[in-house]
Amino acid sequence: MHHLQCILHAQRCLGWGPLASVSWLLPRTCRAHSSFSGTACPSPEGRQEDGARKDFSSRLATGPSFQHFLRSASAPQEKPASADVEDPPPYLTVDELLGRQRKVYLETYGCQMNVNDTEIAWSILQKSGYLRTSNLQEADVILLVTCSIREKAEQTIWNRLHQLKALKTKRLRSRGPLKIGILGCMAERLKEEILNREKMVDILAGPDAYRDLPRLLTVAESGQQAANVLLSLDETYADVMPVQTSPSATSAFVSIMRGCDNMCSYCIVPFTRGRERSRPVASILEEVRKLSEQGLKEVTLLGQNVNSYRDNSEVQFNNAVSTNLSRGFSTNYKTKQGGLRFAHLLDQVSRIDPEMRIRFTSPHPKDFPDEVLQLIHERDNICKQIHLPAQSGSSRVLEAMRRGYSREAYVELIHHIRESIPGVSLSSDFIAGFCGETEEDHLQTVSLLREVQYNMGFLFAYSMRQKTRAYHRLKDDVLEEVKLRRLEELITVFREEATKANKTSVGCTQLVLVEGVSKRSATELCGRNDGNLKVIFPDVEMEDATDSGLRVRAQPGDYVLVKITSASSQTLRGHVLCRTTLKDSSAHCSPE
Ligand code: 5AD
Ligand code: SF4
Repeated sequence: MHHLQCILHAQRCLGWGPLASVSWLLPRTCRAHSSFSGTACPSPEGRQEDGARKDFSSRLATGPSFQHFLRSASAPQEKPASADVEDPPPYLTVDELLGRQRKVYLETYGCQMNVNDTEIAWSILQKSGYLRTSNLQEADVILLVTCSIREKAEQTIWNRLHQLKALKTKRLRSRGPLKIGILGCMAERLKEEILNREKMVDILAGPDAYRDLPRLLTVAESGQQAANVLLSLDETYADVMPVQTSPSATSAFVSIMRGCDNMCSYCIVPFTRGRERSRPVASILEEVRKLSEQGLKEVTLLGQNVNSYRDNSEVQFNNAVSTNLSRGFSTNYKTKQGGLRFAHLLDQVSRIDPEMRIRFTSPHPKDFPDEVLQLIHERDNICKQIHLPAQSGSSRVLEAMRRGYSREAYVELIHHIRESIPGVSLSSDFIAGFCGETEEDHLQTVSLLREVQYNMGFLFAYSMRQKTRAYHRLKDDVLEEVKLRRLEELITVFREEATKANKTSVGCTQLVLVEGVSKRSATELCGRNDGNLKVIFPDVEMEDATDSGLRVRAQPGDYVLVKITSASSQTLRGHVLCRTTLKDSSAHCSPE
């Protein structure tokens, strides 16, 4: 029979859900049901907790005394010969934690944060002696880095697990058992439900438990299921240098913070990724410097809430001047004080390499004080591109979503951003069919799409998630077919408006960072403009503006000037003028 080796969570709830970081290791024979009961928050009445405390006190009273431990510690030489055959120590030795060249296959689902998590998980396993394989058939360990944001994302994982089951059962005995692990948000959200439902899953590791992967895999080797879904208040993996899964010649993502404190009523993220915490500035700058030395030309600062960044890692940072929220915006949490804020980080990061483009995702509209906007405007290498997730165009729905702003405040922020950063490119997320959304509310969202005319958009049908405030307090009362019809309408309007917005670039000369050959045609190259829109252009010889007379073909990582000749809702096309540098081309869009 399988036993479950697990880490128990302290029984203290952190205000609204995620569990505290106090943990202890149970002996290897811990039983599934008893161990996982420890992961639940205490009941509101605290009855369970009281009972547990009493039980613990009575066990303490009848258990060994302090003297007992002193006695056994002071007289090891008096141990009988039989001591040699006592149980092994209840912890794993360094040797046991080694991967011994076993091959790991990692598969990533969901957002960019998960791509970064995959790199962190791999970095930890590589140090522990595992090898990486991109061939599923030769894997000894398969790890799925999962997403829980919508029901569909989880369904994809359940389907995948069914396919993998066949691999596991068909495996030759001589190759040793195949181990399967669920990492990330789904492990965190469903915990033991996964192990109970799919007996073929061997390990579970939540987003803050990747350092524990070598131990979990070692436990799994002995035939037990192993889990660590502990959330942390301070884990940022600051010292783990991510190993890029598919190294790009041009760009990389750098994680700057984890978790989210916003508690929007529809969102599972605060429950799967825990409380907000920021990685110290110094370690971010060190990583960006290394990437610059490797010749990378673009860094995207990554986090659930990047612009809420707040480095409190040193006491003196708490004297820093406090920053404001965007006008007309509020938070669901108590005002936080001190720390080095996002404007400071952005300033420092952008000074490292003037030839390196800086982007960030995903921000929250509440945290765009003037100093951030000013910096984006002034610094040539900070891209003039802002993601401003609105979620809805109706103030009534925004209130039900607990977004902390009205439609009017949001629109005012859009105007303010456009005044502060001329030519800025804007994108947004929207949810269709949230609880209680009427046709009138939906039309308000349509009108916001028309009014703002975003360059990029990410649109979703609402998917009710357990644990969220909406699950407890609201009714998922918009019919599925209505949600899908509204989503379709939003997509159509978004496309029409984005096409109009992108067409304003036709005739302009834009700076493009070359990524490589276009997927559709071997004779064309593909790159991104400052607004992060894809630009396609013929792969031809051109002049090098920094070395007159030299004729070159553009390579990945080069900056080129492209004259835009046509635009759709997602792509621009043009012809290349010359190779240049970021510094030499301050013209992001210069109509002729
Ligand atoms: N249903 C649908 N979309 C959601 N998002 C977050 N939670 C849900 C949900 N329960 C969307 C939001 C968010 C993006 C990352 O995913 O638009 O900004
Ligand atoms: Fe979810 Fe809102 Fe946090 Fe974004 S800001 S991750 S939508 S809770």
